[in-house]
This record gives sequence, structure tokens and C-alpha cells, in this order.
Amino acid sequence: MRHVLVLIVMIIVATVSVAGAQKVELSLDVSKTGAKIDRNIFGQFAEHLGHGVYDGIWVGPDSTIPNTRGIRNDVVAALKAIHVPNVRWPGGCFADEYHWRNGIGSSRGVTLNPNWGGVIEPNSFGTHEFMDFLDQIGSDAYISVNVGSGSPREAADWLEYSTGAQPTTLAKERIANGHPAPYKVAYLGIGNESWDCGGNMTPDYYVSQMKIYSRFVRNFNPAQQGKDHMFKIAVGPGGGEPRWTDWTEAVMKAYQEHTWSWDINGLSMHNYTVDWQNKFASEGFGETEYAQVLKATLEMDTLINKHSAIMDKYDPQEKVALVVDEWGAWYAPLPGSNPGFLVQQNSLRDAILAALNLNIFARHADRVRGANIAQMINVLQAMIETDKEKMVLTPTYYIFKMYVPFQDATFVPIAFDAGTYTHGDISLPRVDAISAKDATGKLWLALTNLDPNQPIEIEANLAGLTTKSAAGETLTAPRVDSVNTFDAPNTVVPKPIAAKVQGSKLALTLEPKSVTVISVE
Ligand code: AHR
Repeated sequence: MRHVLVLIVMIIVATVSVAGAQKVELSLDVSKTGAKIDRNIFGQFAEHLGHGVYDGIWVGPDSTIPNTRGIRNDVVAALKAIHVPNVRWPGGCFADEYHWRNGIGSSRGVTLNPNWGGVIEPNSFGTHEFMDFLDQIGSDAYISVNVGSGSPREAADWLEYSTGAQPTTLAKERIANGHPAPYKVAYLGIGNESWDCGGNMTPDYYVSQMKIYSRFVRNFNPAQQGKDHMFKIAVGPGGGEPRWTDWTEAVMKAYQEHTWSWDINGLSMHNYTVDWQNKFASEGFGETEYAQVLKATLEMDTLINKHSAIMDKYDPQEKVALVVDEWGAWYAPLPGSNPGFLVQQNSLRDAILAALNLNIFARHADRVRGANIAQMINVLQAMIETDKEKMVLTPTYYIFKMYVPFQDATFVPIAFDAGTYTHGDISLPRVDAISAKDATGKLWLALTNLDPNQPIEIEANLAGLTTKSAAGETLTAPRVDSVNTFDAPNTVVPKPIAAKVQGSKLALTLEPKSVTVISVE
């Protein structure tokens, strides 16, 4: 944010053009860049919850659904296309009741999943299957270890089993189970929501646990002993109330005073777009609910500012990343679904919501260096829905696909006056925009028109660039609640968009309720 303020270079006006369409002027200077947008803000989350893992990823090797060693081929192909940087697993609340030994070897322990519908957990998807899945999609492991009902020793053994290269009993067991090479565990979550489903701990109690887990849960993979070391993420806040600001204070104060014997590299934050008292419907809604949900989702920025300010106090050099490892829309369960399975529809509203949140993370790229949308498949704000052999890609999926060029790109601050979209007593910015330069020097803009009724004429002044061409895609649909279904999978899909370029100027029209990503050369 500091960079944005420093680098605002022009006074911009939102006006009404002669033709009556709203006009918004943007300006940026390509030579003035901010932080790197860490690709890990595009992370995913796969919990043993409903059909997130079973049916969504894992169908078993004997399934008639095309699979590779039990993992769905259609899902793998779809996820490869969005370059998933890391997947958080096995939970969520599930993680603090997960015992990894049930999920290895030829004879799996059959357990229950009391958090999510009380269903049978066959444990057929365990460590090896998860790592195989990551290998197939080309992603890194973010493993959340059991702090609530497990022990430091259980977690330490899991990591030794997974990452050990020397012939210890645990490493030999992994080899006997079919994987000679040590696995890479890029991220380690030390518990999940330990203030609630992860054990209802006080901040001080959690801090004492965190130190023990940080010290003893070691990664032995020889390739991860240097700069590619395992990144340890402590449980952080789940809101802005004092119980959570106190939590952030306690963890960050401990970090400031930490000794050589333990460390953390990230602080988790969970923030859903939800009304817990009266959950929004995920389908069949109108403009009022559209505006209400988008207003609520923009609170992400306030929450990041609040917790970043505390982190700045104890860690002014921003060594500890804020990792928003659960975010997204949480709506009422679809009628007829198991309420414990968190099944909801995914509409154009969710695509816009996703873009707004990704933009917020990008603007905070100096501190927010990881995020995991909840959840990847069939649960909450999913990328993918499956039903037996059928699969459909959601509007949110397409936002992640369109935003791939922003992974590890360098943030370029944009100045603009967003104008205002008003519906009833709700006022929102009419436009949102981010920009970044990729490794080849190409400039990318992501432009969201929140207004569901009015197109916007964008005029961008790209100082330092002599534009040759611009190409991009836009995502919109007939209604704010338009969805993709198994029978009609192409209602909300990106379409090419044309833009005019001349000198350092770029001009294009944003359709109402749309997200556009455009590259300029
Ligand atoms: O994503 C669903 C649940 O939400 C997770 O298990 C938990 O961490 C959070 O409360």
C-alpha cells in the first residue's frame, strides 16, 4: 500500500463520456514498480470435506472414470491450466483430527470425519496419493499438521517419513510404500484455527505449542536445507475483533523475541465472505444480494491492514508473510445437499468477488505472500464441480486462469478514480484495477467493472510504454447470478476483447459486471 501512495502520479477523473457511458481514466508509469506478486497468492485448499477429495480428486484406480493411479485425469488437466502453486491439505478443521499413519500402506485405518457430516473416512487418499496428485498437477505441498489432537512427535514422524533421505526406519517405510525419493514439503501449517476448531486454545497456550512444533517438526529433504527451506506458517487471526488482534499480537511478539531454536515464516489469516446469521443464497439472487456480497468481500482490505499494522510493529522488515490460507464466499448449502458438505453454486458474482480479493492481495504484495481459496473442488467457492464422470469449470476457475500472468509478476501501481456504483443504500467502487509486469517485461492489466448495469470506457495512460498491440479476455454473463452447469458449461466463460492502442494510450470498454485481463506490448 505504501508503494501505491508514494507512486500515485496523476490526478484522474471519472466522468460521463459524450455517448453517456461512464468513463474512467487510469494512469501508471511502467518504470515505477512495487513488490513481486507472489504466485502463492493463487494457492488452493483441499480438505477432506464432502466431495472435495473423494470424487473430486480421488476416484480410485479401479474407477471407470479416467484416472491415473486413482486421480481424475479431467481434474488434473483443468488444474494444470491454472498453474496451482500450492495445495493446502488435509484441512481445515479436519487436519487437527488427522492421523497420518491411517493414510499410508496397504491396509488403511477407517475412521470418521466428525467435523464434516460424520461420514466414514476411508483414508484411501493419504500422503502418497496427495503427493502423486501434486506431481500430476505440478504443484507444491502445504501440509497442515495436527496440533489439536496430535502430538509434536506424531507430526515430526510424519515429516521424517515424508522427507527423510537417510535410511531411518521411517524413511525405509516410505520407500517400502513405493516412494524412494524424499518428498518436498514446501509449506508447513502449525495447526489450523487453534482458537476454535483446532483446540480452542488461548494465544499463550498456542504460542507455547507453536514453538515446540517449529523446533521439532523438521524437514530432512537435502534439497530443502538452503534457501528452498520449508516455510513454517503459524495460526493467525480469523477476524478483526479483539480476540484476533490479541492473537496476532501474541504470535508476532513471540516471533520478535524468538531465539535460534525456532522460527516462523508466515502467519495465517482466515476470512470468509459470509453472513453467519443469515447465509446468502449461492443461486437465484438479484442485484441487492450481489451488491451486499461484494461490499462484504471488500472488508478483506480492512482486515489485512489491521493485522499488517500489528505485524509491522514486531516485524518492520516484513520477514513474516501474511498468508490468507482460507478465503472465499461461504453461502447457504444447496437445498437437498448434506449441510456438512458445504455445497454451493458458483456464479458470475463469485468470479468478480475472486478478482476483487486477488487485487487486494496484489496491492498488499509486500506482506501478503500466500493465499488459499476455499476450496478447490466441490466445496464452498470451488474452481471445479464434479458429479461422477461429469466435471464443470466454475466462473471462479476462469478468474484464476485469466490471472495466471500475474503469478510472480511485479506490481505496477495504477492511479484511478474508481467512481461509485450505488444500489439502494450500498455504494461500491465502480471499477477496480491492478497492473503488473511479467518476467518478459510485458504489462498486464486486470480491470473489473462492478456495475452490473453500465459499461465503462477505460482510457489508460501507460507512461514509459509505446504500445504496439493489446490483447485480452473478458469474463461476463447475462446475469449476476449466471452459473455454469454440467448441461450448460459455457454460460460464464472468457471471450476475447478488443482494445485500441496509440502511443502510450490504451482504450477499451468494460462490459457491465465483468472482469477483463489484457496484456500490452
Ligand atoms: O473451509 C471450511 C472450514 O472453515 C475449515 O475446515 C476451517 O478451517 C474453517 O473454519
